[in-house]
Amino acid sequence: MGLLFWLVVLSSLLYHGSSELESLSRELMDSAREAGFFKWMIGARRRIHEYPELGFEEHRTSQRIRTELDSLGIDYKWPVAKTGVVASIGSGSKPVFALRADMDALPLQELVEWEHKSKVDGKMHACGHDSHVAMLLGAAKLLQGKKDLLKGTVKLVFQPGEEGYAGAYHMLKDGILDDIDAILSIHVLPSVPSGAIASRPGPILAGVGLFAATIKGKGGHGAAPHETRDPILAAALAILSLQQIVSRETDPLQASVVTVGYVKGGATGNVIPESLTLGGTYRSLSSEGLSYLQKRIEEVIEQQALVHRCSAVVDFMEEKPMPHPVMVNDESLYEHVKSVGEVLLGEDNVQLLPLTMGAEDFSFFSQRTAAAIFAIGIRNETLKSDQHLHSPYFFIDEKALSVGAALNAAAAISYLDKHGSKTEM
Ligand SMILES: *[C@@H]1O[C@H](CO)[C@@H](O)[C@H](O)[C@H]1NC(C)=O
Repeated sequence: MGLLFWLVVLSSLLYHGSSELESLSRELMDSAREAGFFKWMIGARRRIHEYPELGFEEHRTSQRIRTELDSLGIDYKWPVAKTGVVASIGSGSKPVFALRADMDALPLQELVEWEHKSKVDGKMHACGHDSHVAMLLGAAKLLQGKKDLLKGTVKLVFQPGEEGYAGAYHMLKDGILDDIDAILSIHVLPSVPSGAIASRPGPILAGVGLFAATIKGKGGHGAAPHETRDPILAAALAILSLQQIVSRETDPLQASVVTVGYVKGGATGNVIPESLTLGGTYRSLSSEGLSYLQKRIEEVIEQQALVHRCSAVVDFMEEKPMPHPVMVNDESLYEHVKSVGEVLLGEDNVQLLPLTMGAEDFSFFSQRTAAAIFAIGIRNETLKSDQHLHSPYFFIDEKALSVGAALNAAAAISYLDKHGSKTEM
């Protein structure tokens, strides 16, 4: 056969594939925006918003998820890592594409006055996890409607404890996710306009560690410093020395952060305390960078304490576990979700997200398998949904829920279409 013949066959196959994706995407987007569907999805989100729960305490949220899955007739495993739920839709065989939503809220007082304001004092969904759960439930409903057409399995991962509890790590330990081939997570983001999505290939969020140090000296009268060993002075010099790790020891082109976030010590002006504590965070875009920072933070605090005749112990909370690895978007999965987003929303509404030193425990997934995280835009100045994540004024343009649900579902179906057909050949 001539080359031309094969070119014609190939291009008609490609054309066929992309027009199929177009009609599927349009159908999913229309369904997710349909009045009844939308009302159900924001209803689920608002109920979760009213009763926020902190990491590994998401009992009520988990119950709500299971109730919705039950009424959709979707099977699931529970509990996975205390409150987590893993649902499955499709053939039960490979390939397995996973979608992840985090569930926990923050210890923060909501200051937005609206009908569905948090009913729990001091707790708030200020990071949008309530909406992530609702979007994944939305995707569940869309996928269940297509379950006989799935060329593989979709696993829906409702994850507890993202805000510093390493919930992703603990879910992976369960084993139920050992068979996944790729995983997508979405996160609402106020820097991206409502109706758009954004991401980038490769490293996208920093690896993050925490440290907590205790500096011990010898307490005594503020009038007789020579009879004491002053841990306040030792801490002051340690904090100054920590600043040089980034400014003098790190390649300026290698992004790193060392931040001291708290110092707690002493009670009154004329007493030198026995000991004090301080702590903070360190971040890097490489695992070598993370280990270097950890090693130097320990050395600097211990040695500066010694200079001032004190002693120090530095805890890196390795049992959590900490640090969390760098979040790296798998390049081909990124390209896949980006092209699905372009079909769903138009090319202008898929943006390149700048790198930031923020972090996500979803990176434990990216260490294990092909993973990608995408931002779902929520910014609309009229609605005041332009407040930062973790702000007490954080607010969501709920129209984004339809975008998230459709993106989740379309990315999953088309991934299985692409990779499932291989095994049939
Ligand atoms: C922002 O929200 C207002 C009020 O709901 C709406 O009229 C407007 O179209 C929205 N703007 C965008 C860009 O979505």
